[in-house]
Amino acid sequence: MPDAGLHVRRATADDAERIAAVLQAVTAERVHSAIDRPWSVAEQRRYLASLSPRDAFHLAATDTGEVVGYQSLDRYSTVLDSMAHVGQLGTFVLPAWRGRGVGRALFGETTRFAAAAGYRKFVIAVRASNASAQAFYRRLGFADCGRLQAQVVIDGRDDDEILMEFFLTISGPGW
Ligand SMILES: CC(C)(COP(=O)(O)OP(=O)(O)OC[C@H]1O[C@@H](n2cnc3c(N)ncnc32)[C@H](O)[C@@H]1OP(=O)(O)O)[C@@H](O)C(=O)NCCC(=O)NCCS
Repeated sequence: MPDAGLHVRRATADDAERIAAVLQAVTAERVHSAIDRPWSVAEQRRYLASLSPRDAFHLAATDTGEVVGYQSLDRYSTVLDSMAHVGQLGTFVLPAWRGRGVGRALFGETTRFAAAAGYRKFVIAVRASNASAQAFYRRLGFADCGRLQAQVVIDGRDDDEILMEFFLTISGPGW
């Protein structure tokens, strides 16, 4: 972790409020995510409490306890065993902390967990207008693999989603 005083750790249900605050800040920007309504603290707490042993939720926090970003890892399909090796990610970093290595540090922990938990690939869908997140994921080793047209409508505007995939068997610069 490049910033002294920051650390990455697994989240617990007690982190719900701090995590909800990060999602609230990022979704308020309106431009990054397909999430148009941030989860409430109660919804976030229920989600954290419900995580299975194959789900991971890592957060980056300062020494004073402020959560500045997080990354979730879920099974791509919770019903298909044929896709049990595929995970999906979500990454959110507060504006002031972007471009300082937080996302990469989170990805390092997520990939370590994922490899040990039997995942072999990640799939993500990033809004086409979110060039910054696409650049981030490409830098970590993700490759573009498809496009869903007019998949997101936020504030009355259509946006496509770019599908990207990453194979854990290929050791990339991100982990
Ligand atoms: C996208 C996001 C998660 C990246 O996190 P971050 O902490 O800013 O990324 P890092 O600083 O760890 O960058 C990791 C690498 O990606 C590169 N990168 C990050 N943002 C980039 C950008 N906008 N353009 C080009 N490269 C970028 C960095 O240069 C870095 O490369 P290096 O480690 O080889 O030097 C963060 O900007 C964010 O939360 N954005 C808003 C929410 C969002 O869009 N989430 C994704 C929704 S799908």
